Amino acid sequence: MTRSSRNPARNIVILTGAGISAESGLGTFRDAGGIWAKFDPMKLATPEGYASDPDAVLDFYSARRANLIGARPNAAHLALAGLEQAWMMAGRGEFLLVTQNIDDLHEQAGSASLLHMHGELLKTRCTECGHVFTDREPLTRARACPSCGAVGSLRPHVVWFGEMPLEMERIYAALESVDLFVAIGTSGTVWPAAGFVREARAAGAWTVELTLEPGEVSAMFDERHDGPATQIVPDWAARLEAV
Ligand code: APR
Repeated sequence: MTRSSRNPARNIVILTGAGISAESGLGTFRDAGGIWAKFDPMKLATPEGYASDPDAVLDFYSARRANLIGARPNAAHLALAGLEQAWMMAGRGEFLLVTQNIDDLHEQAGSASLLHMHGELLKTRCTECGHVFTDREPLTRARACPSCGAVGSLRPHVVWFGEMPLEMERIYAALESVDLFVAIGTSGTVWPAAGFVREARAAGAWTVELTLEPGEVSAMFDERHDGPATQIVPDWAARLEAV
């Protein structure tokens, strides 16, 4: 099968990263002044960090959770939700949005076929019983699990460095039959997400990258667009809908 943007794609997989939420006021990680320039990921985003100083980790995620409560989707999130609806209405094929982001802006925008491979900031997990629940409250060790009653066992339902991302079987199954793979607002630094473009190319897909500036795996993409997501994503989505 030849890889070409001219073939009307049937099965699309879109991967998003922090860059799509940057213009909604949520920080990225590796841009100048990013989250990992201010906070040490090894202390705040690893199981070891949580074990050695749980209060510091809970405070870090409680602050990000509070910051998220007021955030709203931007034109890029809305364009992807609109593209999904148009894709499904036209019966074009499979549509899957995989996000590395733990915010809920894709949900707020109306995206439905959505997987959070790094978890969700507005969910909490009990380390005693595994119960996961929607939670917009600050995380503290004084709180009890609503399911098993354990105290001091709550953590954010997010994937830390060294932990296995979520939904990987469904993601790789989708990448086996993808015709069009699109990465938006991600630096291509963190695996396994950074390797999805290689899986897509192996399946014969056309690959597109939309970010503010080139990232670590940009050379692997057939097509690239540079710019702010709120400008380049709606334009790209409109062109794709018109195909
Ligand atoms: N519009 C489009 N892209 C943008 C914008 C913008 N307004 N601002 C920044 N970007 C791009 C940058 O060019 C970069 O490619 O977003 C990307 C941000 O890269 P990172 O900060 O590394 O974020 P991300 O790729 O999502 O990180 C992956 O790393 O720390 C972990 O779990 C965390 O999910 C995260 C993962």
